[in-house]
Amino acid sequence: MKKKMLVFFGAPGVGKGTQAKIISTKLQLPHISTGDILREAISKKTDLGLLAKGIMDKGELISDEIMAGLVESVLKNDKCKKGFILDGFPRTLNQAKILQPIIESISHEKLVLISLDADDDIIVNRLAQRRMCSTCGSIVNLNFLTDQTRCPTCGSKNSFIKRKDDEVDVIKNRLNIFHKTTEPVLNYYKNHAIIYNIDATLTVEEITEKILEAIT
Ligand code: AP5
Ligand code: MG
Repeated sequence: MKKKMLVFFGAPGVGKGTQAKIISTKLQLPHISTGDILREAISKKTDLGLLAKGIMDKGELISDEIMAGLVESVLKNDKCKKGFILDGFPRTLNQAKILQPIIESISHEKLVLISLDADDDIIVNRLAQRRMCSTCGSIVNLNFLTDQTRCPTCGSKNSFIKRKDDEVDVIKNRLNIFHKTTEPVLNYYKNHAIIYNIDATLTVEEITEKILEAIT
């Protein structure tokens, strides 16, 4: 069976994490979210976490060298033998260029890039309404809940937390950085990956269906 090497690409809040979790479960592929790895380092107060916290709270990017080192060690792990889903990496041209020889050293296949797209105003609204359940880790959008105090996945009461970088001024900074630094990475992948463009304003279920149609 072909190794599935997927990159979920798109602006903050476009739905990368939501879809990566679903596809990871359906296809039994590890979900590698660089944001989640950094947030875990912050909660454990590791050296990486202490360095990353102030940068992430402002919505800025961690250095390419740190991020690339981190991703390389994960991709070379046995768990990624059958493939992987990268979520949040690469997000600079330099990260993409560092990633390319790593990919070529582990497979002859091309990366498959799922590019999710939605307008900034939709994204700002989604992120301002995003919460995470501190009990089970589910990501929700408050707009879609009938009971905004209870996690629909595990039933926990008052367990929702808001990410520090989901304050409106930080969201706007993250979007600016995305348009300036991350979006141009798509150009690089025109020659280095198979790209599927997906409308991220569809429902979660419709997007999952389109991703599965594209990659299976
Ligand atoms: P990271 O955690 O990667 O954040 P991000 O890219 O800003 O993206 P988000 O996680 O905010 O959004 P998402 O696309 O996953 O959307 P979600 O599915 O949650 O990175 C955080 C920080 O870490 C960075 O700012 C940087 O500091 C650092 N970092 C990470 N990687 C790095 C790297 N490679 N280099 C340097 N620094 C790095 O959905 C959002 C909301 O919308 C949710 O409420 C969800 O329920 C809802 N939603 C999802 N899909 C839909 C839909 N179809 N319709 C309606 N609502 C939906
Ligand atoms: Mg995410």
